[in-house]
This record gives sequence, structure tokens and C-alpha cells, in this order.
Amino acid sequence: MCNLNHQVEIKKRRTFAIISHPDAGKTTVTEKMLLLGKVIRTSGTVKARGNGKYVKSDWMKIEKDRGISITTSVMQFQYKNILINLLDTPGHQDFSEDTYRILTAVDCCLLVIDAAKGIEERTKKLIKISRLHHTPIITFINKLDRDSLDSIEILDQIEKELQLSCIPITWPISCGRNFQGVFHLYEKLIYLYNKSKKPSVFKNHFDYLNQCLLKNDINSDLILQVSEELKLISHIYSDFNKKDFLKSIITPVFFGSALSNFGIDHILDSLIKWAPSPIYRNSNIRKVRPEEKYFTGFVFKIQANMDLKHHDRIAFIRIVSGKYKKGIKLKHVRTKKNIIISDAFYFIAGDRFDIKQAYPGDIIGIHNHGTIKIGDSFTEGEEINFIGIPSFAPEIFRRIFLKNPLDQKKLKKGLNQLSEEGAIQVFYPLNNNHVILGAIGILQFDVVIHRLKVEYKIDALYEKVNIKFARWITSDYKKNIEIFLNKNNSCIALDNFNNLTYLAPSQANLNIIMSRYIDINFNEIREQ
Ligand code: G4P
Repeated sequence: MCNLNHQVEIKKRRTFAIISHPDAGKTTVTEKMLLLGKVIRTSGTVKARGNGKYVKSDWMKIEKDRGISITTSVMQFQYKNILINLLDTPGHQDFSEDTYRILTAVDCCLLVIDAAKGIEERTKKLIKISRLHHTPIITFINKLDRDSLDSIEILDQIEKELQLSCIPITWPISCGRNFQGVFHLYEKLIYLYNKSKKPSVFKNHFDYLNQCLLKNDINSDLILQVSEELKLISHIYSDFNKKDFLKSIITPVFFGSALSNFGIDHILDSLIKWAPSPIYRNSNIRKVRPEEKYFTGFVFKIQANMDLKHHDRIAFIRIVSGKYKKGIKLKHVRTKKNIIISDAFYFIAGDRFDIKQAYPGDIIGIHNHGTIKIGDSFTEGEEINFIGIPSFAPEIFRRIFLKNPLDQKKLKKGLNQLSEEGAIQVFYPLNNNHVILGAIGILQFDVVIHRLKVEYKIDALYEKVNIKFARWITSDYKKNIEIFLNKNNSCIALDNFNNLTYLAPSQANLNIIMSRYIDINFNEIREQ
């Protein structure tokens, strides 16, 4: 076990990611958190660096020209003596399998919902993935300064569509032009929203509710309505219970306006109070706990071409146990090779920072010379492999073809490497010579075509293909698989790692096949 200092370092860390549908306010929340964490001094910094919509067109060009994602990867900041690692989940155009896999490297998630829109499609999928690991979820209902859905209706949607019981911690006083602030139901305080340009927060004791509201020229109808609402919610919702939160049965809910930096401190306060410090991870042999003395960690993301001149690749490792120190000797368990890590680093909006030491929950980037795969484990000698860093079934498909058919071998090599990095998934149908690419985000195809050209000197194109779903097929009995293959050969492919996959042309087809072959598992997720 580790020494006292190590334990203190673990206890003071929180590692989390933000889940949201595009435009719900993830970038704005991130920016306000970085402001509160004093990483940046002025608003606009995050977006201006190419992480958002202000520079979307530039960003698209750079992304295409360089075939990379230049978005921020990990942001570390201090908030009230707690060290927070915020992992960026690519959204908008750079949405990809990375977005899903990052959720396996965090201990908590913040769900941001647009108060006018409620639960949107992408949120459902992201929450489904975060719940594979029972990751605790804090919810922030954003944009209360605009006209919003009824708050109880939003909470109903969360309960129904995400199967999470809501526990409101704050409660809004109206919305849109009438937005006055929130009640903090646990602190028994009222935080008043200031509409002036520089928003500030005033605290008032709960007991003075009427006076505060009257002072702010709020009419008596609103007071009545809010009082009724408070009575109602005290009957509908239970009290917060940390155990259920940690099991992801309940989610504490906060309301605010990220744009006005209103309510972000409430989320951060709950994060440091309730979110777990770095937790154990499962390996193929045993549970590995953060307090253990020796370093262990796993790769959950590989980023290519961070340095354009060298086409370098960075493998991002989540530290599970022990401590990283500059010069540490680590075993790359899959290749059984020992390597000395002398230059681990992290990035904020494209800037690279050298890391001298790091602890469980932290993310370190190391150079990858084409040998590291997603899901690889690093230890100080022990032969263990972390599990739970899966591949997710692609959601869009294209057929790739070569301008020069003689490049077939080169193409296979290039695609092999790119799929090991998690940049794309590749499928080889059993009954023809097509090569099918599978992705989660559409931009991944352009990035792959670009990288094939620049890094492998291959000219390739892609076109639409009649495939809607991929499911990895397994069964307890080999015979079942044989029968299935004989009957459905035209829809079967091998993925890049030789796993049998069913490629379905439609939801109806998949449903029929699944109901016909009940002894076959059609897996949406595959362990590396
Ligand atoms: P995302 O990363 O989840 O995609 O969302 P982002 O933060 O970029 O926010 C999407 C839009 O919503 C932006 O407006 C942003 O300013 C706005 N927004 C975020 N939080 C709030 C809020 O609390 N209140 C209001 N009223 N708006 C909010 P945009 O017009 O699309 O872009 P921009 O020009 O403002 O950046």
C-alpha cells in the first residue's frame, strides 16, 4: 500500500467528463469551470482556441488539412483544494468513438441539458454508455435565462428516458425574462440571478424569501407559484442519498445559466463533495485499487499528428494505481516490452505541459510509435490487463476503395494501424473483396482518407453503402455460429481483429435475425 502523502493525493482528485447533446452548453460550462479554476482569465478563451463554434470553419479546415483533432484533451484545475481532471468528450463534428471511450476513463459525469429542449438523442446514448460502469451522474439544467420547459417536466423526462431518479438540489425561480435565481434546497439559501452585464450572486437566507423576492420587484403571483412549486417538489422527490448517487441510481439536479456563470459553482461544490475520488478498475486478474504502491494504467485514447512535422501519436493513459514519476520504467503488458517514460505530458487547448509526477485519476500522454493500442495496459512489471475499455458498434458505414488497386496491401496495413488507434473500424465481408469502414462520427471518414494519403501515401475514396448496423456475434456453442454463418453468409464480415460481425442493412432486418437466432448474441460492445 502507498504512503500517507499518496493517499492524500488520491483523496484530493476528481476525474470527470461532461455529457451533452451538441449546443446544450458543454463548451460554455467547461469555460466557466476553467474560469473558476483560474486556468483561464477571460471568457472566450476556450472557444477562441478552436474548441467551439466561434472558429468552427477554421477548425474544420485545420481538422481536414491535418487529419487530426485539435480539441482539448484533458484539463486539470484546482477548485477549493481539490484537483479536478476534466476530460473533454469530442462533440459536434469531431464526435467519434473517442467520445464514448472517454467515459470509461472517468469516475463521474456531468450531464448538461438545455432547459428548452430537454433530453435529446445523443444524451441518451452517452448516458447508456456511462451507466455500463455505473458512473455517478450530476445533472445541470442549463439556459434558464431563456424560456424553458417546465422544470418538473424536464425531471420527468430524465426519470423516464434515462432511468435515473432525480433529486433536485437547487430549484429555479421562474425562467426566461423572469428568471430570478435558484433556491438551494440543501443550503437553505436563495441565490439571486443578477441580470447586469457582470453577473454576481447574492446570498439570502431562506427565511427571507418574501422580502428578497419583493425587493426585486417580483409580483405576488410569482411568489405564490414558487411557493406552490416548492411544496410540490418536497412531496415528489426524495432526499439526496450519497450511496444511491454513487451507484448511479439517483442524480442530483442543479439549475442555472452557464453563459452568465450562474450555478456553475453549485455543480463544482457538489462534485468535490459527492463525486468519488479515483476508484478501482477491474483487470483480467483482479481489482486494482488506487492506493496500491505500484503504477498501473490503461490507454483509452490515441491522438495522432499532435506535431505535424513528425506525425507523432500520443497515447493517453488513465493512471489507476501508484505514481508516475519522470523516468519511470513501465512494462507495456501486451508487447511485454519495458520502456522508460521520460516525457509524459498533458495538453490544454493545444499547449503541451511536461508532467513530473502524476497520481491515480490523472491522465498522462506518452509518445506512441505505432506500437500502442487502445485498451493496452502499463504496469511496473505485473502481467495484468485492464478490462472495460470496449469498442462500440459503429453507427455509420462507408465502403472505401482505392484509386490504384495495386495499393491493396498498403491499404490493409494503414487501416490496421488506424483501427488499432481507435480512429476507425474496419470490416472485411466474407463473400466479397469490399472493405467497409465503420465510424460513430461522419468526420472520421475524412480524417482516415486524409491520414491514409499523408501518412501511408495511399489515395482512397469512400462511398455510401447499404449497411445500418454492425453487431459482433458470439455464442456459447460453436455449432450455432456455424449454422448462422451458413445461412447468412452475405451479411457477415470479419473486423480488423478477426471477430465475426453481422452487418445489417436495416433495423427491421436486424430485429428479424435476432428473433430468429436466439442462441446467438448480437453484441453492441466488444472488449478490446
Ligand atoms: P456545446 O459545447 O454543448 O455544443 O454548446 P456551447 O457551449 O457551444 O453552447 C451552444 C450555444 O448555447 C452557444 O450559443 C452558447 O453561447 C449558448 N449558451 C450556452 N449556455 C447558455 C446559457 O446559459 N444561456 C444562454 N442564453 N445561452 C447559452 P451560440 O449562439 O450558438 O454561439 P455563440 O456565438 O454564443 O458561441
